[in-house]
Formats: sequence, C-alpha cells, structure tokens
Amino acid sequence: MIMAPPSTLAPGGSEAHHLATVWWIMFALAVGVYLVVGGFIVVSSLRGRRREPIEGPTRHDDYFIWIGGVIAPVLILMFIAFLTVHTGAALRNPSKNSLPIHVVGRQWWWEVSYPGTSVVTANEIHAPVGQPLEITLDSDNVVHSFWLPQLAGKEDVVPGQPNVLRFTVTKAGTYRGVCAEYCGLQHANMGFRLIAMSPGEFEIWLQHEQHITPVPESELAARGEVAFMANACAGCHTVRGTSANGTLGPDLTDIGSRARIGAETLENTPHDLERWIDDPGKDKPGVLMPPATISHDDVTAIAAYLEGLK
Ligand code: CUA
Repeated sequence: MIMAPPSTLAPGGSEAHHLATVWWIMFALAVGVYLVVGGFIVVSSLRGRRREPIEGPTRHDDYFIWIGGVIAPVLILMFIAFLTVHTGAALRNPSKNSLPIHVVGRQWWWEVSYPGTSVVTANEIHAPVGQPLEITLDSDNVVHSFWLPQLAGKEDVVPGQPNVLRFTVTKAGTYRGVCAEYCGLQHANMGFRLIAMSPGEFEIWLQHEQHITPVPESELAARGEVAFMANACAGCHTVRGTSANGTLGPDLTDIGSRARIGAETLENTPHDLERWIDDPGKDKPGVLMPPATISHDDVTAIAAYLEGLK
C-alpha cells in the first residue's frame, strides 16, 4: 500500500499534527514487519538446506510458531485496527472553526454557495488560507467527482448522497480543479478553480458578494439589461437584486468578476462572452444552454451588461 502523509488532506492545526503522527507510527510499523519478514527470508536462504535428517518438532518450534505466527500478528493487527478507527473518527469530526461551503455538480458546471450567506456563484471557490474548509458535495443529476489535485484527494459527487470533503489550504493562490468522473458529453469541460486568499481578503470578498448592485454602468449595458430580462436569459439565470431568478443555469450576479466562462471553457472577455451567448454549443457541444435567437446587437449589449456585474 502506498500512502502519503496526510499533511494536505487533514483538518488544520493540532488535528493535522495528530494525523501525521499516526501516519508515521503506522509507517514505522509497516517497515518493522517488512524488515522482520524480509530478514527471515534472507537468513533462511543463506542457511540453505538442512543436511541432518529432520526430527519431530521441538518445544522451541512450537513457541516460535505460536508467538511469531499467531500472537504477534494478532497484537499488531489489533493495534492497527485501533489506530484506523481512531483516525477515521478524527477525520469525520468537523473542526470547530471550519468554513462550510456547498458545491453542487451540475451538467456541466459547479454551483458554489456559502451557507448562512446569500452568496451563490459558479465554478470559482473563494476560500481563506489557514481555515479548515468543509465542502459539502451534492449533485442533482449524475455522479461527478470533485478534484483539486494540488489540495485534496478526489471526492465523489453523488445525487442524494452528500459527501463532505475537508482540507485546509496553506498557501494563497489559484488552484485548478476538474471533474474526475465521466459524467456526459462535456465532462472534460467541467473545470473550476479555488482561489485562496488571506482571511481578511476573504472576508472583504464575502461582504462584497452580498452587496453587489446590478446597476448597468453604460447605455449599452442598460440596453443589455433590458434584453436580458426580456429574453430567455432571465428564465434560466439569476441575477440577485433583479427579476431574473432562473435556476437552470449558473447564478450570474458576479459573472463579471470571474476569470473564465463555461466552467473554464472560454476567457471571460467581451469577445468570448458574446461568442458564448451567441452559440455556446460551438465551444461546448452538448451544453444545455441553447443558442441565442436574438439580434447580434442584443448579444453585444447583454455581454456588456454581464461584464459589468461584479
Ligand atoms: Cu462532471 Cu465529469
């Protein structure tokens, strides 16, 4: 069995320390058993065949078999079983100061919300450095797999069976994530990112997200808002603070602040956003969002409106 020290998978602080200690104990035990067994093999092969005729088993042989073959393995396995149960329980126990985040695997993007706040976003998880994260994973369709290779192991995202992934990010930065379970046509374009920042910056971000005012900043954007609300867009997407409250597609309240669109499919530039609105299936075949049936001017205006939402 190949194992890695649980430095990134474990909850933060003293619990991480505790888990690392357990890991080293189990590793030392495995090395010990390996050396003893390997040692016997080496010794027996060096001794070669017995020359003298084999006599019946001696009392010494009996002790050797009972202690080496029964008592020692039972004690070692009991000790490992105890450590396993103990560590499993520690891993399941949420840290007192962990940050709950709710992530739902959709087809084919990720909905991200922060329980206790009104914040809902998509494909970007903002998180503070140093605070244990408790990410509840859920799906409303098929099984996905949530994977941030640099931060934690894969976790299945199962409809009706929420799984919880716990880890602590120790370094600020942007971490790419992917869906790691085949989930349909656009499985490969189901990317996301985790943006880790200082706790202060995270608090500012979280406050800002709850006070975004979706007011168009230009004449073009104002026309875009009208077109957005009058057409199918508002039936599938939510922009908090407006009459758009659809839930089929991603919440677009902060779309202007996101690095990419279409779950990491395209750049978030006016050009790419127009291209996306016009016909998302060009870049993401099978996407559930239909091509636009509006004029190109309206597409441009809607893109301008959306880029201003941040
Ligand atoms: Cu979702 Cu693959």
